[in-house]
Amino acid sequence: MHTIELPTTNRLKQFNFDQFSFGEVPTDHLFLAKFKNGEWENGEIQPFSNFSLSPFSLCFHYGQTVFEGMKAFRLADRTVSIFRPDKHYERLNRSLERMCMPTLPKQMFLTGLTELLYKDAAWLPVDRQDIAMYIRPFVIATDPRIGVKVSNEYLFAITCTPIGEYYDKPLRVKIETEYVRAAEGSAGSAKCGGNYGGAFYPTQKANEEGFDQLIWTDAQTHQFLEEAGTMNIMMYIDNTLITPPLSGSILDGITRNSILQIARDLSIVVEERAIHYKEIAEHLQKSDRLELFGAGTAAIISPISSVQIDGIDYYPHTGNDAMMFKLKNELEGIRRGIKEDKHNWNYPLNR
Ligand code: COI
Repeated sequence: MHTIELPTTNRLKQFNFDQFSFGEVPTDHLFLAKFKNGEWENGEIQPFSNFSLSPFSLCFHYGQTVFEGMKAFRLADRTVSIFRPDKHYERLNRSLERMCMPTLPKQMFLTGLTELLYKDAAWLPVDRQDIAMYIRPFVIATDPRIGVKVSNEYLFAITCTPIGEYYDKPLRVKIETEYVRAAEGSAGSAKCGGNYGGAFYPTQKANEEGFDQLIWTDAQTHQFLEEAGTMNIMMYIDNTLITPPLSGSILDGITRNSILQIARDLSIVVEERAIHYKEIAEHLQKSDRLELFGAGTAAIISPISSVQIDGIDYYPHTGNDAMMFKLKNELEGIRRGIKEDKHNWNYPLNR
């Protein structure tokens, strides 16, 4: 692959791994490829720098943007390893298809990822089990035309930034029964910018009421849990892990998929079925030991310590003995090379 060698800013020297906010400091390089005349050009690694785009570029107006959220880790033997890149690649292409954007060749995706990670591997400290590399690939429509139409030109970029804990404390959430994230038949299962932008207003209102996040309910009845916007939602009770089934309105989370598999491996009963929000209230009214948590790439597993349902606060179990922590520990153990990777989820860079 061709790499443009320009002086880098070398942000790494100034980066403090003990004190940083997620998503503010990019690593020193990015991967960039353009789609023109019906095909993807070969991409290249470049020093991280600003783009120059026409203000008419379609991505600024009609939301033709798609992204992924992935992670890379240091294995116990210090090798850098990307977690489940195949699965992320498949989901990225599904999102692109839903948004009328050209799919990516697998070779370009994997080469771009691995070359970028080789280049910026020093951003993954060898002695820090609490740090991972968050990888943000994205595709935007760049046709400089104000008319409402599908773009003919696109830009694909892969960027990286270090990540620790996305949420640093258990979450206070509410079940949202007024606003909707996505309806069946919408682009709700695509990882497109609009799904996130549309969620800002209700989420901000919930933040003003003192909640960290909200749990969306279905658009038709407002009774069944969907997802939490930054993560899929899961509940654990009586050796059973329950999560809403995949549909056209929720994201097919790769952490969701991994946690369900780990649960099956631990002989936990797994149910992918509709969850009525009243089911949660009924259990917690009886003081049943119910766990509620989010699962996502950035969030990993995020405990929910308080959930408001129809104006009443309930308190799911978040003690140290909670199953969610065992599931998180298994997942982190696999991707840091400490536990057996029996499903071949790790993609180590072997150069
Ligand atoms: C991810 O988990 O990768 C997401 O895209 C969600 C966002 C909270 C960063």
